[in-house]
Amino acid sequence: MSEPLPHSDALVIFGVSGDLASKQIFPALQALVRSGQLDYPVVGVALEPWDAAALTARVRESLEAHGGVDAAAFDRLTPLLNYVGGDYNDPATFDRLGQTLHRLSVSRPLFYLAIPPSMFGTVAEGLARAGVTENARVVVEKPFGRDLATARELNAILHRYFPEPAIFRIDHYLGKEPVQNLLYFRFANAFLEPLWNRDHVACVQITMGEAFGVAGRGRFYEEAGAIRDVVQNHMLQIVALLAMDAPTVLGAEVVRDEKARILRAIRPLAPEDVVRGQYRGYRQEPGVAPQSQVETYAAVRLRLNTWRWSGVPFYIRAGKALPVTIGEVLVRLRRPPQDVFGERVPGRPNYLRFRLQPDVVLALGARVKAPGEPMVGQPVELDAFYQPGGEMSPYERLLGDAAEGDASLFAREDGVEAQWSVVDGILGESGPVHQYDPNTWGPAEAAGLLEGGDTWHDPKPDTPREPKPERRPSGAANAGGGGHPAGA
Ligand code: BG6
Repeated sequence: MSEPLPHSDALVIFGVSGDLASKQIFPALQALVRSGQLDYPVVGVALEPWDAAALTARVRESLEAHGGVDAAAFDRLTPLLNYVGGDYNDPATFDRLGQTLHRLSVSRPLFYLAIPPSMFGTVAEGLARAGVTENARVVVEKPFGRDLATARELNAILHRYFPEPAIFRIDHYLGKEPVQNLLYFRFANAFLEPLWNRDHVACVQITMGEAFGVAGRGRFYEEAGAIRDVVQNHMLQIVALLAMDAPTVLGAEVVRDEKARILRAIRPLAPEDVVRGQYRGYRQEPGVAPQSQVETYAAVRLRLNTWRWSGVPFYIRAGKALPVTIGEVLVRLRRPPQDVFGERVPGRPNYLRFRLQPDVVLALGARVKAPGEPMVGQPVELDAFYQPGGEMSPYERLLGDAAEGDASLFAREDGVEAQWSVVDGILGESGPVHQYDPNTWGPAEAAGLLEGGDTWHDPKPDTPREPKPERRPSGAANAGGGGHPAGA
């Protein structure tokens, strides 16, 4: 997708015995082998006294639990697996890793740090001391810092050993197909641009709902909360894709320059721009304090200080234990300047809806005349696109890209720091945390964030549709079966 660097010739996974490796990385490795993109050695590193056979057994067990074993791909993956055990504080661990890389004739390793950020410095230093950082790349997982100050410290630590172009910060949302489609759809279609500004857009709403609680991650969540966990990263990346200006070309740095520019233009959030919520029952989750004030839900109102977006609120709502697991963007357009038909229709009849998950939907909300004598209308949705979810996983795509040296879908230092600057003022107990019942859309107080009589758009699962038939070359005008009941 952009200015490629030389391909890595080995993948070294620190934290290979952990949860992330088990749930995300191993399935991605199997998929990469299947698609022919992975034929180089994989070296797992962790404290466990394992060998390659024990790692192989662990990979199999993980695949059985997460997506299934593809016998042919697994057989090709097995001989690629190597293991180095040891403590990250012990230089001998890195010496052994160095010997392994030498034995495997590796000269351009990709180091994946699937470990707590507090260990990044130790591992990076160990690698440097063992002399294996030259021509290397490093992939780091979120959370990238706990706030602006710690993110800067982390960046400084990594930069001691790796230049910025060698650092690949994962935000797995960027690896999702529908998230990439936001960028594509916006800049591959000229008709959108005249509408895409304060003259026509009334507001933008982004919802990330999860119909489950903290799912055993209580201890982690107590340290994070929804703002750190998903707003600072995934949600702000989506805002950037929706609001950025067009990149001149498709290059990792050019796209990331535009994203960083818009992220820097977001006014830092103040407590009055936020409603924090906590689902009833959270305090009883294992690892959660009985009086916890941590938010499992956040609604925020963003202001973008740019010519294009001045006066257009961008709202984000993200939470656990909501009615449905869903991701959706709704761009509400302004009403017609005059109510010619005297209908006094509430709300804003025109909108664009981008479903981000679990399936992919792109729809345009409009009004059409209802059949019959009177000039009265009804809402419809023109369905531009529907695709069931479940193609390439974000980790498969991101790991493949990192090995190729394509940084387009990774967060860059300036962008990450701009994201922290937006949320820095609302981290922790910045205001009250309102209790809400599981299976609802969060605390009622969130309605108070909306301006101009707006209401929150509660996304509903779309009805799966049949794949669209091939379009006829004559190009009949049917954009694809409009007429779904409007949902905004
Ligand atoms: C992670 C968060 O980054 O994203 C989780 O830590 C959240 O709390 C997850 O559940 C959501 O990702 P996805 O891909 O399932 O929407």
